[in-house]
Amino acid sequence: PAARAGAAAAAAPVVIAHRGASGYAPENTLAAVDTAHRLGVDWVENDVQRTKDGELVIVHDDSLARTTNVEQVFPGRAPWKIKDFTAAEISRLDAGSWFGSAYAGARVPTLKQYLQRVDRNKQKLLMEVKNPALYPGIEKDILKVLRAQGWLDAAHVRSRLVVQSFDAASIRSVHRQHTGLVTGFLGTPKVADLPKYAAFTDQINPQHTTLSTAYVTAVHKLKGAHGQRLRVNTWTVDDAANARKAKGFGVDGVITNKPDVVQAAMRG
Ligand code: G3P
Ligand code: CA
Repeated sequence: PAARAGAAAAAAPVVIAHRGASGYAPENTLAAVDTAHRLGVDWVENDVQRTKDGELVIVHDDSLARTTNVEQVFPGRAPWKIKDFTAAEISRLDAGSWFGSAYAGARVPTLKQYLQRVDRNKQKLLMEVKNPALYPGIEKDILKVLRAQGWLDAAHVRSRLVVQSFDAASIRSVHRQHTGLVTGFLGTPKVADLPKYAAFTDQINPQHTTLSTAYVTAVHKLKGAHGQRLRVNTWTVDDAANARKAKGFGVDGVITNKPDVVQAAMRG
């Protein structure tokens, strides 16, 4: 039968480039942001942590070893934790060669540099507060940088920024310090516990292997911290079959290292 007159077609899930388009460029670098932009992807995801001297930098692991040449530059400093290095030391590292020689010389971006690049590309940011237990007070530091960079203006807060974490206390803190910000919890809380999360988050963002239509429907029944339907962005989906499966579950967004693969699957 023909679609009911006036019935809105279900929107395709939003595609979010995980650590930038990290299937094609070194994760969490400005090159990964630009690659997402070239692929026509509005949203990028990143991971924020803090250096010894209080600078916010974009790195996934709590150590610099996997994604930079820190072991060569500072051989005596194992296990090369971010919190044990100054921003000036980290700025000397190569964060691209491990991925491929074409990216030699890519740097670990500061949060400030990262925000400026996302702005320049007119993209949007799903920012993860990574390992906040290692960095007491990092939420306040993040808000300070966001404010200084103009990211707490109405346009960014309304539609260009989401702050998420696996750590519920960290997200509750962000929500309390700036109640306007859109926030997300990373994980799959029990359905019975969802209302507790909805008090301070707008999104529940689970690993795709944990999802079902029933779970997404249960999340969607609730309103988030700003009175809108609680949303679901799932991670990390890098193949067409799982992208179509996530779409079938009814998710609002898909977080992926390979946004072109997911975009094509969503169209198909
Ligand atoms: O945004 C979802 C995803 O980034 C969570 O896992 O370990 O890649 O930060 P991880
Ligand atoms: Ca992340």
